[in-house]
Amino acid sequence: PVRRREVVHLMNKHLSRRVVDILRDLGRVGDELELPVYAIGGFARDLLLGGKNDDIDISVEGDGILFAETFANRHGCRIKSHAKFGTAVIVFPDKAKIDVASTRLEYYETPGALPTVERSSLKMDLYRRDFTVNTLAVRLNPQNFGLLIDYFGACRDLKDKTIRVLHNLSFVEDPTRVFRAVRFEQRLNFQIARHTENLIRNAVKMGFLDKLGGRRLLNELIIILREREPVRAILRMESLGLLRFIHPDLVLDSENIRILDEVKKVVTWFELLYQQDNVETWVVYFLALTSLVSDDSFWETCTRLSVSEHYRERLIDMRVHGEQVLKVMEQKAARENTVRRSDIFFWLRSLSLEVLLYIMAKTRREDVRKFISLYVTQLRGVSCSVTGDDLKSMGLPPGPRYREVLDVVLKARLNGEVSTHADELLLARQELARK
Ligand code: CTP
Repeated sequence: PVRRREVVHLMNKHLSRRVVDILRDLGRVGDELELPVYAIGGFARDLLLGGKNDDIDISVEGDGILFAETFANRHGCRIKSHAKFGTAVIVFPDKAKIDVASTRLEYYETPGALPTVERSSLKMDLYRRDFTVNTLAVRLNPQNFGLLIDYFGACRDLKDKTIRVLHNLSFVEDPTRVFRAVRFEQRLNFQIARHTENLIRNAVKMGFLDKLGGRRLLNELIIILREREPVRAILRMESLGLLRFIHPDLVLDSENIRILDEVKKVVTWFELLYQQDNVETWVVYFLALTSLVSDDSFWETCTRLSVSEHYRERLIDMRVHGEQVLKVMEQKAARENTVRRSDIFFWLRSLSLEVLLYIMAKTRREDVRKFISLYVTQLRGVSCSVTGDDLKSMGLPPGPRYREVLDVVLKARLNGEVSTHADELLLARQELARK
């Protein structure tokens, strides 16, 4: 068993001073209200694994909303509470959040003259959770600060790197857990326990997953595709028969796996270069995952996942447009020795970063990959210094000519034929003069 002192040591080592202070204050407020308070779930799991998890989930044995209000008053936080569920969210001025849930203390009549006993409902609450590794609780009240409560063998499974359900009906109760199992297994580099894996296979075979709504399925898929190692998780989903369940045509062959592996490389490359740019990486993986299915199957996949009509149109457009551009580039690269920078620019400028990364992963041509990389790193930021206002002052009436002339100047700029503002203006004038 992990001792209290070790848990406190892990907190001091892995959490910021501020978070540890908050945890201690939560415990103090608990004492004032005479309520047992615990940090539970993913937070406790990642603490023991020596990782960081800023999502603090608190469980209070008793009135969690009163607890949250009292804490919030003292710390200048706001709260949002749901009386019906006994839950509250404490929101700090800097928008940091803490979730608070209540478990009711239950009173059991004992036979005879003995007094009524209070029994902890924490255990009941934790029993409803998905996997043993998510059932840890860390006591926060001052006297027992850091005391680890492990009812279901979580520490053992963390040590053995095992994902295990608490009971046989877990996946029947909540089929999204099938996907959560894969996610935790791949993220933590654990192994789904044999019996748990059998339960998953059984749930697939018995069609329990069919009951899973599209939205929930999509959410799980998105979370998986946003993880650090989605490809391994995708392969695991395939081996458990989960992809086929999203759409029967989602079968991975070697080409598909190659594209997915390339996406991983390309996304890593991009993130190293542009930490601040936010690309929806899940979209890139989604396009790669569905890369080889027909347009009809793609449409059906989106429908199965309840993708909104608007977003479905966008995804289809990304896919079709990306493929078209890629085809043009590959043909051109195969035919000609030199490709001009302006060609690359005008091929690619209407594509989103997600599509650029996707086709960069998809192409088998090294030269085409280099073109896209050149565009992403250099060309996409290029613009000419001549503006619409300049053309207006040259007397150009409103109309499509603006775009044409500006593109001529931009093209010259990209190919290094003009470099100064004066050169650009001159070129714009010549172009205007030319009918
Ligand atoms: N949970 C569950 N069944 C689900 C979803 C969640 O039992 N279908 C439980 C899990 O035990 C989990 C807790 O609710 O620990 C909180 O869920 P969530 O925030 O999704 O999980 P975390 O463990 O915090 O995962 P992450 O690290 O990805 O945030």
